[in-house]
Amino acid sequence: LRNGTAKVAILGASGYTGRELLHLLARHPAARAEVVMTSREGSVPEPPELPSDPVVDSLDLRRLDGIDVAFLCAPHGASARLARQVLDAGTRVIDLSADFRLRDARLYAETYGEAHPARELLGRAVYGLTEHAREHLEGARLVANPGCYPTSILLPLLPLLQHGLVDEGATVIADSKSGVSGAGKALTERTHFGNVHDNFLAYKVGDHRHLPEIQQQAGTDRIVFVPHLLPVFRGILSTLYVPPARGTTAAQARACLEEVYAAEPFVRVYGTGLPELRAVVGTNFCDIGVAAAGDRIVVISAIDNLVKGASGQAVQNMNVMLGLEETAGLR
Ligand SMILES: NC(=O)c1ccc[n+]([C@@H]2O[C@H](COP(=O)([O-])OP(=O)(O)OC[C@H]3O[C@@H](n4cnc5c(N)ncnc54)[C@H](OP(=O)(O)O)[C@@H]3O)[C@@H](O)[C@H]2O)c1
Repeated sequence: LRNGTAKVAILGASGYTGRELLHLLARHPAARAEVVMTSREGSVPEPPELPSDPVVDSLDLRRLDGIDVAFLCAPHGASARLARQVLDAGTRVIDLSADFRLRDARLYAETYGEAHPARELLGRAVYGLTEHAREHLEGARLVANPGCYPTSILLPLLPLLQHGLVDEGATVIADSKSGVSGAGKALTERTHFGNVHDNFLAYKVGDHRHLPEIQQQAGTDRIVFVPHLLPVFRGILSTLYVPPARGTTAAQARACLEEVYAAEPFVRVYGTGLPELRAVVGTNFCDIGVAAAGDRIVVISAIDNLVKGASGQAVQNMNVMLGLEETAGLR
């Protein structure tokens, strides 16, 4: 890095995750948002919402010259096409969309309803669940930033699977509730104020696009995932109903999580009590609590979908990728 400061571009800076990235980078001691663009071709630059906001320019990939890393905050499909051009220009990519999370192009086509726009790049992408990917992130050129729901489910679940604490013959139930910002800024009937305020509902039961991603990373199909829409703006609370391997107790599951995440700056395993959204909103933390309930171990996680579930984890990945202090800009 020249002068020890990373020069960063944000493509899609006019969306929720793009704006969140701008706020995080404004406090980053060793990275600067040099190029701040929308990612939609031909779109008119937006005037700043607040006087302190930077101007969001229209898309111009020639401006990436000299940029160390570009964050793509575009919808899936569009993101992969941008990624190819940005990588060809010699710039590293952290993609917040779903385009490089699934390793199998056929599964991508089934899940997202179109052929993968840059399948030749799939083998190069590192799945950036930071706590479980550090050695692959160092020096990576293309990082697939995980989905928000998958982050909230995989962080508590992976250690339990890896340590053999889950009954492999039974199914894990992941019951997740998300704030409305998870759907992005576009107006839709389901997510407009009148349908979200004072309401609560389940959606895409059994066929949400994050399920294949969760199953791929967990290495098992034995997962039921039910997402819900909470009448709040930010945050995901996931409740996992885990069938324990024979003889495994909730105390052992908690001890496993405590040990795996003991040195992690952004994962907090509770000794007593359970996570709440209030404790994590606006932070890069994933909070985890464990309880015994009947024949299940109940594991509850909470994250801010726009921070640990998107832009915060993306900055954490950039820090590891470029050899910066991992917590820089995120405390
Ligand atoms: N929201 C979350 O909690 C979350 C969490 C994890 C991952 N993600 C993923 O991150 C990406 C961005 O999410 P977001 O919530 O920030 O979305 P968003 O608020 O809808 O913003 C999307 C951005 O993409 C641009 N855009 C829209 N249509 C486009 C197109 N056809 N081609 C190129 N650019 C286009 C928009 O530009 P204009 O302003 O010009 O329209 C805007 O800058 C998505 O792929 C999403 O799945 C989101």
